[in-house]
Amino acid sequence: MIFDTPASNNPIDQLKVIGQPASRIDGPLKTTGTAPYAYDRFNVIPNQAYGYVLGSAIAKGRIVSMNLSAASAYPGVISIVTAQNAGKLGKGDFNTAALLGGPEIQHYHQAIAVVVAETFEQARAAAHLIQVKYARSKGLFDLAAEKSKGVAKDDANTIAKSAVGNFANAFQSATVQLDSSYSTAHQSHSMLEPHATIASWDGDQLTLWTSNQMIAWAVAEVAKTLRISKEKVRVISPYIGGGFGAKLFLRSDALMAALAARTAQRPVKLSLQRALIANNTTHRSATIQRLRIGATKDGQITAIGHESWSGNLLGGSPEAGAVQTRALYAGANRLTSNYVSLLDLPEANAMRAPNEASGLAALESAMDEMAEKLDMDPIKFRIKNDTQVVPDSPSKAGSGEAKADAKPNQHPPFSIRQLTKCFQTGAERFGWNKRISKPGQVRDGRWLVGMGTASAYRENVVMKSAARVRLDNRGHITVETDMTDIGTGSYTIIAQTAAEMMSVPLEKVTVRLGDSSFPASSGSGGQWGGNSSTSGVYAACIKLREAVAEQAKAMDAKFNIKDAVFSDGQILSGSRSIPLANLAGSRGLTVEDSIEFGDLDKRYQQSTFGAHFVEVGVDAATGEIRIRRMLAVCAAGRILNPKTARSQVIGAMTMGVGAALMEGLEVDKRYGFFVNHDLAGYEVPVHADIPHQEVIFLDETDSISSPMKAKGVGELGICGVAAAIANAVYNATGVRVRDYPITLDKLIDKMPTLV
Ligand code: MOS
Repeated sequence: MIFDTPASNNPIDQLKVIGQPASRIDGPLKTTGTAPYAYDRFNVIPNQAYGYVLGSAIAKGRIVSMNLSAASAYPGVISIVTAQNAGKLGKGDFNTAALLGGPEIQHYHQAIAVVVAETFEQARAAAHLIQVKYARSKGLFDLAAEKSKGVAKDDANTIAKSAVGNFANAFQSATVQLDSSYSTAHQSHSMLEPHATIASWDGDQLTLWTSNQMIAWAVAEVAKTLRISKEKVRVISPYIGGGFGAKLFLRSDALMAALAARTAQRPVKLSLQRALIANNTTHRSATIQRLRIGATKDGQITAIGHESWSGNLLGGSPEAGAVQTRALYAGANRLTSNYVSLLDLPEANAMRAPNEASGLAALESAMDEMAEKLDMDPIKFRIKNDTQVVPDSPSKAGSGEAKADAKPNQHPPFSIRQLTKCFQTGAERFGWNKRISKPGQVRDGRWLVGMGTASAYRENVVMKSAARVRLDNRGHITVETDMTDIGTGSYTIIAQTAAEMMSVPLEKVTVRLGDSSFPASSGSGGQWGGNSSTSGVYAACIKLREAVAEQAKAMDAKFNIKDAVFSDGQILSGSRSIPLANLAGSRGLTVEDSIEFGDLDKRYQQSTFGAHFVEVGVDAATGEIRIRRMLAVCAAGRILNPKTARSQVIGAMTMGVGAALMEGLEVDKRYGFFVNHDLAGYEVPVHADIPHQEVIFLDETDSISSPMKAKGVGELGICGVAAAIANAVYNATGVRVRDYPITLDKLIDKMPTLV
């Protein structure tokens, strides 16, 4: 099915199952510890040996020699793979650095060997007996030092630079000006389930039980890297313990397991050890961002400039912090650029709402600072500069690709934009009118209390997605698609979609995900998965409804297909009704289809919007920061399941707290690695850090986005949170911290005098 005209009324609009807060179908499996995660799958293939990955001890240079003799002789060792005996490897399109290093080393903890042994302990012990001689070369590890050498760089989805009007002149002549710089830290995904894979070869046929967000990408990248055909690769990943972008791409666990299993001639299971992950895999690059805003005295923005600098290995993309500034606020004169500097740190790549999460941390702090300069309420300031069209030059709108048919001086409209309503709803609910704009005025015992707010903005991306659906002679529906559930609720919303489409109860739908033998879906990434994959299921169900109607006609010549409706597990026409079960035949009815998106996403800017509200307490004596309560108001199209969507958003808000207050990979600038490479040193929020969260979804349907009329929402929840917290800390204390995370050492010297 091609979706190229806005959706009209369709069976989803019945909202009997869609839109209901169904509990997650996979919940009982998760809470009883019986969901089969990759590393747990002892029973999928017998005779599994253990692999252990060794990472490079230098960040840049060459391996001069590797002495494997002690390791090879260690009890239980079966084989060892290094670049020397791995055979010629290709490199996947999504990988910047090679997944198996040597002799050239591109980053610290780049995999250089995998040891296979009978037990995990033997593999680990033997790996530490490998003697490696390195020739270390000098590397670049400090973003601030390399910033001036940054180059503006496009990536697949984002153009590097855009300009509208004359920013320099307009900024210069603006009555009120702000010129302010911010920085965000390198961050690590830190999902609970580590990267893990069991690999097995049957002749030249490879099966990987792994943990991956994007099954079809994984198949293609494995094939390309091993230089075999895609047909020889099967990837199975039905349950995923978090990904956050870390599992979008092929990583070393899967490649090393495949290589290890080939040389060992046995299935091999391996998991990247926690302390390897931060440096072996990918991270979100730190950013340095400069914001310049010029406005009239009454708060109309006349000039807005946002430049963002980040780092990556050669060939890598920027963390494009400036992208949302092209679309969020009006203003005739604009300048946005995304620069990337060469750094020899591990590969930087997508993490938890890439670009906007970091970009809004800066932009929305600047908006708060500007509102103060204007002596304006920060919500009023944002509403005053709201816009219903993309203010950037049309050929460069948003963070997506160029809008194809946009003409000069035309600004594409948003499919729907309710930013102002998000703020109005949130202000009312949160009690914003109790905020005292002068900082440092509210005291609750030892706590200085403050409120902050910020806009949330995130692109809505749509992706082709296919599914297979089957009706059997019990009236049961089975959906198969290679879509993944990374803890998001995919199983549940896909079942709800099929149940709604076929008019059967949720219990009569079985959903099977995460297997490359199923039709290729959108996968899970960039908050496109929920809307795109259910749209693919919608398309397949439309086809199944047609097949069912044909069967009804075949069974009863007087059955009128044109009048057919589906209700209560039956197909009805006039006074005739036939249970679906009776139409399936002994072999069942199976159909397959996909949703493909036309150019609606080029003619309209599809984005999701929100407003975040945060109240913090800052210990008046120590500067310790505590979140007291958080509210997110989201406008993100139809909410397919308010329970799973809420879980997505509160999880994202929690990640925003991490980015604001604690998360940061510390760089050893001499040797070029992230020092705090485990969950003891890299802090993420825990339940005790998050006392109270509330989420409001505005009633919204977006018929331009998909037949589901939904949009992404998972990543929206993180976008803007860090700034809302920084703004609340400022309101509590009068101390503006522009360098995330806001740890108490950055506050303590500037705190108000104790009274
Ligand atoms: Mo997301 S960072 O695209 O998994």
